[in-house]
Amino acid sequence: MNAPHPSSPLASTPAAVPAVRKAVVPAAGLGTRFLPATKATPKEMLPVVDKPAIQYVVEEAAAAGLDDVLMVTGRHKRAIEDHFDHAFELEQALAAKGDTVRLDAVRDPARLADIHHIRQGDPLGLGHAVLCARNHVGDQPFAVLLGDDLIDPRDALLSRMLEVRERYAGSVVALMEVPPEQVHLYGCAAVEPTGQDGVVRVTGLVEKPAPEDAPSRYAVIGRYVLDPAVFDVLEHTAPGRGGEIQLTDALQELAAVGTVHGVVFSGRRYDTGDKADYLRTVVRLACDRADLGPEFVAWLKEFVAGLADTGTTGRERSAA
Ligand code: UTP
Repeated sequence: MNAPHPSSPLASTPAAVPAVRKAVVPAAGLGTRFLPATKATPKEMLPVVDKPAIQYVVEEAAAAGLDDVLMVTGRHKRAIEDHFDHAFELEQALAAKGDTVRLDAVRDPARLADIHHIRQGDPLGLGHAVLCARNHVGDQPFAVLLGDDLIDPRDALLSRMLEVRERYAGSVVALMEVPPEQVHLYGCAAVEPTGQDGVVRVTGLVEKPAPEDAPSRYAVIGRYVLDPAVFDVLEHTAPGRGGEIQLTDALQELAAVGTVHGVVFSGRRYDTGDKADYLRTVVRLACDRADLGPEFVAWLKEFVAGLADTGTTGRERSAA
């Protein structure tokens, strides 16, 4: 295990930084941007090709070595719980048919990690959802992966963040450079260089700032490695923007004492809670699939060529 970097404000803390084993996946939000689909189905359960978005997220946690996953769920708890549980009738029917491929697909979610669930009750904000994990997490550092935020498995972000946590201790956020007109959609970080490529010290955080108030174009995206110190801060964090208890506000308090670092990510990230990004995600991941991709790409090229020729949408063409 690496010692903290000498430039870190925590350089004098003991070298033994506990390894991260637990992941928390908040999935209790209302998903209002995706209504009416999310009226009775959590947005984290919307299919991305043939798996719910949240399964990709749990696969990512498992691939980074986190074998204990706590889902923070809300109103639509059943669908998420059922997905990561055994489905005995379905498994028996597939086994009787000898359909081992589908049988494995049905069994896989329950085998990914040791999965636990807790209910948030009222969706009082992401910070509150993280605070609900306190008893389960205990006094250890832990990862938070937002259940509707997908990172392409080819662009390992979480393992990089875990390395940064080992080196600097404290908490680590994932940052992505976004155009100025998108800054107001995210938490935004003020940063200083560390001397290490792609790693910055976070000196301040603002939730969804107006472009003129944004300290940078570094947006906080849905991956965090948090020091358990965040729980004490969340206990007294007052509702902030939108009347919600914001994780960004708690992290701002930790950033002010120099214990937050950022990993700058420039890989593929998909916000499946946003309709347009959801569509892009499905198309991109379908194109990459060995079983579906070749036929789908051929169709897609023809479809797009048709749009370019006529300048109309498919609906307009079939109505004509
Ligand atoms: P979002 O802000 O994307 O979720 O929160 P939302 O509130 O469901 O979204 P819209 O704007 O209404 O569509 C990021 C993550 O935090 C979780 C969400 O489920 C999502 O994974 N979250 C948010 C909670 O678990 N609890 C909350 O109180 C709020």
